[in-house]
Amino acid sequence: MTDRRIDAKWWKSSTIYQIYPSSFMDSNGDGIGDLPGILSKLDYIKSLGVDAVWISPFYKSPNKDQGYDISDYQMPDPAYGSMADVEAIIKGCHDRDMKIIFDLVINHTSDQHKWFQESRKSKDNPYRKYYIWKPARYIDGERRPPTNWEATFGGSAWEWDETTEEYYLHAFVVEQPDLNWEDAEVRQAIYKEAILFWLEKGIDGFRVDVSSHYSKHEYVDAPIIKPEQYIQPARAKYVDGPRLREYLEEMQRETFSKYDSVTLAEMSGTRTLENKLDFVGESSKRFSMAISFDLATVDHYGREATYLWWKPYDLQEFKKITEAEQFLSGPNTDGWALTYLENHDQARSISRFMNDSPEYRTISGKTLAMYLLTLSGTPIIYQGEEIGMINMPKSWPEAEYIDAASWMFIQTVRDDIQKGVKGIAEEEAFESLQRIARDHARVPMQWSNDHSAGFSSSAKTWMRVNPSYKAGINVAEEEKDECSVLNFYRRMLAFRKEHSDSLIFGEYQNLEAETEKTMQFSKKSFDGETLFVALNFSGEQQKASLPDSKGELLISSSTHPDQEDILQPYEGRIYRV
Ligand code: GLC
Ligand code: CA
Repeated sequence: MTDRRIDAKWWKSSTIYQIYPSSFMDSNGDGIGDLPGILSKLDYIKSLGVDAVWISPFYKSPNKDQGYDISDYQMPDPAYGSMADVEAIIKGCHDRDMKIIFDLVINHTSDQHKWFQESRKSKDNPYRKYYIWKPARYIDGERRPPTNWEATFGGSAWEWDETTEEYYLHAFVVEQPDLNWEDAEVRQAIYKEAILFWLEKGIDGFRVDVSSHYSKHEYVDAPIIKPEQYIQPARAKYVDGPRLREYLEEMQRETFSKYDSVTLAEMSGTRTLENKLDFVGESSKRFSMAISFDLATVDHYGREATYLWWKPYDLQEFKKITEAEQFLSGPNTDGWALTYLENHDQARSISRFMNDSPEYRTISGKTLAMYLLTLSGTPIIYQGEEIGMINMPKSWPEAEYIDAASWMFIQTVRDDIQKGVKGIAEEEAFESLQRIARDHARVPMQWSNDHSAGFSSSAKTWMRVNPSYKAGINVAEEEKDECSVLNFYRRMLAFRKEHSDSLIFGEYQNLEAETEKTMQFSKKSFDGETLFVALNFSGEQQKASLPDSKGELLISSSTHPDQEDILQPYEGRIYRV
């Protein structure tokens, strides 16, 4: 048994707030969020009680994948502002005693990056080796991509380039060519260009984009699941490749460790506990924490098959995943859990896991806050989650889903139907978008009752504003209401600090609930304080099944909690036992 408080690094007792720059705050009325907009809201972020800020990519980008296609690692996109603005944000966070974390997208670049522009020019260009080029394959005289791999969002993972008559690999959209990590010089260039440059500017760490993708498996065909066509689901081919661990160790050694910086590694392909510890255990020396996908895909049909195919989630599975993840922060490992319900790739959690109707939205949002902020490890709160933002209205047409992953998903479904591939019906595909599309998280942040939700002085914003801001879901309204989701986040974040021994560093124990509709667990500190958490995920009353004797109710997400330990619909409670 280890006391996890001893020598704990700063990030273990921190809560991180994630900003999606294009949708956070628009300072100049062009309908796009920007860096001065972020700067103007640092006091607000600080007022929540969080300790660190992570900003999604704001670098120069043609936005084929919303900034995750970078054409210059060392420059903010002009739409967002200048280098002076970036520096002001770094300083602004530090002045407020908050850490600042940037996004690191180095599995691929944009096809507009100077490296790729050079690389595609000729086979003997010095930058040729920066990307993964392969000759065509001919089947019955017809030109085909080198392997049958499908890209993550659909379509072939290989793109034919006329100039040199070869294919290049892209695990994501066509305009995101994958970098060739096998070459040592390429890796050094990435470290210097994308990592050391920013660490030198004083940031405190990185969120590391698709970090399980750097090493690819052998370039051989994926198993045939759709016999009607050449392209086959192939995610497994580009995650967790044979040299991944070696690359990650090298990167850690040559960059992050020199600055003692934190790393949140996006590890979509990493599922087992053993596997996770291999990446985030202190002794493994690879990353600080991992953003894992088990909970994020609890309401998706197998990721291998079709990325955005929705299915109702099962609370039992939700609990099992939580428990497994919590083990990482437990007394028997040297890992650390990272917990989140939302980010820019996930739909809104109230709409996914609770009830977003006007009657239950507030209590749902508060109870989810209680879930997130009573777990061990480091939580991430995504912009708008703290005011209980909900999904885009169901009445919105398909045209409002502008994310590449959304339209490529619909496209793939339509192609499959045409070819007679057994799969999803078109209505089912659209319902999937309504439930879990990434677009739901990307509409503008709701600041007030003003037009465009106070996000922009323009009526024309880059994504349509969710009309729910008029129904009280906005910062200004929630500031005034003591019982709002926003003020509950503040209260819970303070409570988490006060009870850090049990909530941050304590041991999680799942307690079998009497019904299948609640989640109940205890958090026990090293010195023996035990808190009991009971969360009702259903629309009916449920009993809190306190262990042994009666506990003292410390917090409820309901404004009128029942005295007899009956949970109201969607209510959450914390007791001291
Ligand atoms: C990560 C990002 C996502 C992006 C993808 C490709 O998953 O979070 O938004 O589309 O990487 O860079
Ligand atoms: Ca702007």
